[in-house]
Amino acid sequence: MSNSYEEALRRAAEKFRASAEKAAQAGIIPYKSENGQWVTSPYDGNSWWTGGFWPGLMWLLYTYTKDEFFKEEAVRVGELLTAEFRSFRYLNHDVGFMYLLSCGAASKLTLADQAGQDTLHAASLLMGRLNPAGFIRAWNGDHQKGFAIIDCMMNLSLLFRASRMTGDPRFEKAARIHADTTLREFLRPDGSVSHIIEFDPDTGKRVKEHPGQGYCLGSQWSRGQAWGLYGFTLAYLNTEDERYLDAAKKIANNFIAHIRPDGLTDCDFCQPDTEERIDNIAGAIAACGLMELKKATDEKRYQDAALRLVDGLLEHCCDWTDARLGLLTHCTASYHDDGAGRHTNITYGDYFLVEALSKIAGTDPMLWL
Ligand code: GLY
Repeated sequence: MSNSYEEALRRAAEKFRASAEKAAQAGIIPYKSENGQWVTSPYDGNSWWTGGFWPGLMWLLYTYTKDEFFKEEAVRVGELLTAEFRSFRYLNHDVGFMYLLSCGAASKLTLADQAGQDTLHAASLLMGRLNPAGFIRAWNGDHQKGFAIIDCMMNLSLLFRASRMTGDPRFEKAARIHADTTLREFLRPDGSVSHIIEFDPDTGKRVKEHPGQGYCLGSQWSRGQAWGLYGFTLAYLNTEDERYLDAAKKIANNFIAHIRPDGLTDCDFCQPDTEERIDNIAGAIAACGLMELKKATDEKRYQDAALRLVDGLLEHCCDWTDARLGLLTHCTASYHDDGAGRHTNITYGDYFLVEALSKIAGTDPMLWL
């Protein structure tokens, strides 16, 4: 590992050691740092889909440093998340993101029995969203009964994990149903992926594609491309099904072709040249997916591309000062809607940057599996 990556991981641990004290004092789940403060998510309280990334970040740093404080902070927020089982109302397909990185991580790293039970509880909630017509329903709300989304490929790991934990194949079968539909309906001939597709909830037939957080209908929202890349790689690691690996490679090749010369990632690969809109979260996710793809294929070009992305982030978009509690800048939640953050720090960007650095350092506990 080059000194610069090692140094970046060491400094990230130092920075988050100090800023996590502030989160613990505030008693919140940090979503982004703003004006020297941690701010909570703008929507749905502690049920917002991003709640797992902070404890996930703490688990990564605990694995790297063995500092018990990181573990305590991860457990503190993990409890806030499992409390959301009770209200239930806002939980959706993103229980994978939320609980793999919180109780799922606790179960993996500490073998705590309750954490394992909570992980299975979350997996059962995800399983309950399977429409046997062929897809996992993304969100609640009467008009969204047939909606499925590329991001869900990341959540499927919770189902694969539950089958491994219990020996019950139901969870894995549900995950495969959704992954096969995503392969058939979301992957485009050029290696890009759609963001949202609506199916008829009775027949499972495709109704239409919807625009989501990208530039426009039919465009290439970069974070969606990154979810597809990492998500299909994980589906392959969970199943050894070569069709998923082929999909991951196609999506990776398209992503790599769109990495900017400075190593950063545009918010949408089809956005107008005149528009300077960056989403570094997409680059950080893709770097993680590409490093796993390199391990799965032994193709060095995937590691090279991952390092180009990490280098871009380290060189241009890390704020190491105390003025900002988070680290990665120029994170953008959505192309058109700035409500959840534009060109700012958002904790899931920090999570994936630290996951990428942990992979390079050899300390990544691989919380997705
Ligand atoms: N999973 C939602 C997003 O990436 O914004």
